[in-house]
Amino acid sequence: MDIKITSDLNTEVLVINKFEGEQTSQELANTYAVEKDNFEGKLGTTYLLHTYGKIQADKILVVGLGKREEVDGNKVTEAVAKAVKKLKQIKAKRAVIDFDGVGNLGKYAVIGAYIGDYNFDKYKTEKDHRLDEIGFNKFSENDVKEGRVFGEAMLLTRNIANEPAEYATPTKLAQMASSFEGLETKIYDREDVKKMDMGAYLAVARGSAEPPKFIHMKYSNGNPKKRIALIGKGLCFDSGGMDLKPASSMLTMRDDMSGAACILGVMNALNKLQPADIEIHGIIAACENMPGQHAYKPGDILTAKNGKTIEVDNTDAEGRLTLADALCYACELKVDEVIDIATLTGACVVALGTAVSGVMGNDEDMIKRVIETAKLSGEKYWELPMYQEYRDGLKSEIADMKNTGTRNGGASAAGMFLKEFVSDVKWVHIDVAGTAFLEKPQGIFCYGSTGAGVRTLLNYVTKA
Ligand code: BES
Ligand code: MN
Ligand code: ZN
Repeated sequence: MDIKITSDLNTEVLVINKFEGEQTSQELANTYAVEKDNFEGKLGTTYLLHTYGKIQADKILVVGLGKREEVDGNKVTEAVAKAVKKLKQIKAKRAVIDFDGVGNLGKYAVIGAYIGDYNFDKYKTEKDHRLDEIGFNKFSENDVKEGRVFGEAMLLTRNIANEPAEYATPTKLAQMASSFEGLETKIYDREDVKKMDMGAYLAVARGSAEPPKFIHMKYSNGNPKKRIALIGKGLCFDSGGMDLKPASSMLTMRDDMSGAACILGVMNALNKLQPADIEIHGIIAACENMPGQHAYKPGDILTAKNGKTIEVDNTDAEGRLTLADALCYACELKVDEVIDIATLTGACVVALGTAVSGVMGNDEDMIKRVIETAKLSGEKYWELPMYQEYRDGLKSEIADMKNTGTRNGGASAAGMFLKEFVSDVKWVHIDVAGTAFLEKPQGIFCYGSTGAGVRTLLNYVTKA
């Protein structure tokens, strides 16, 4: 699908908007959709009419934007995504989006087009219907350009996260990271990681025949006034390890690198956005969690990069072990802020469901800023508590801590575990276990990866 700017309304489908209680920009739509059929214009609803040659376009698709006074960027994203889904359904090839009254929200409209168009049909013989081209009228070139970068970033993230584990291996993620332009990227393999004393990450990686890859990407422009590290959980497959998962829970565990996929999408977009006077690090400790002769075992005691010891209570709580070493590594870079994003706990899914991500951290102000940015970015984040009681559950008789506590409050216990590996830096942890990958369509998202975190983190680092 090509996205372009146009003012030529001679197209196959002209897509216009309608606010509730108001007329549209097209006479025909007012006569047929509004007056005859009472199309109200509730957010995301659509009405299709043929023009029979009365105007240049063959068809008009009216899409509801809700009430004018309530409209915002995310509503525009939703309306455009729904409109594009409708365009696909009627097998349209070309369309022009000609919205009135939302002139400064072009970025959000373009993002909506990418989301509505998305489908992972790479492995299907019969491909989905695809639009050739969508033109945008009345939006600024800059807004459309920015929307395109955000849309492409989400697309890349979703494609990587949707790939089977057989394809999206640690080695593959490392190759992709190395291929990105405008970044300084270093890949550490098993021997390097050993030298860096990442005993927790290495233990998780040991059971798999796929070699681990520790990925460090760096974007830098000008004289950095702020330095941020972004860490993505990169479990290319999580079988649970020796504490093997039941089949039904293991089925979608190729998605356990969604955090890593998010960071790859974000880092690749930075070169195109060129935010100034900032340094951004993208860090992924990629590996697989597998049982096998070399696998780490319940009862093992691991030493993380900061010297703290961990009793392995459950090999399925592996993400926090890989993140522990990645957090230590990030803190050693002496950055101002660290954000990690991870499909970390089933408990977070139980608590918040599949539309809302959990947020924890060690700095209230930073937590608030991340949640606020998410709100503006079309994502829903919710703060989960961090109290000493959650840490108490991780007490070990033989090491500094265990890697799991009780099932209850599991998302917060995981947060308290991660906190042990954060030193002298503002830090936020985002649990996307429920939101990164959908087992059935939800809102404007189809089955599979949603690109959770991409819009929020891109907005966060470019507006920092
Ligand atoms: N990758 C899982 C968490 C997860 C669950 C992600 C559901 C997406 C959907 C994580 O590694 C895990 O297995 N967590 C365990 C921790 C437990 C052993 C303390 C869990 O949540 O059950
Ligand atoms: Mn696990
Ligand atoms: Zn996992």
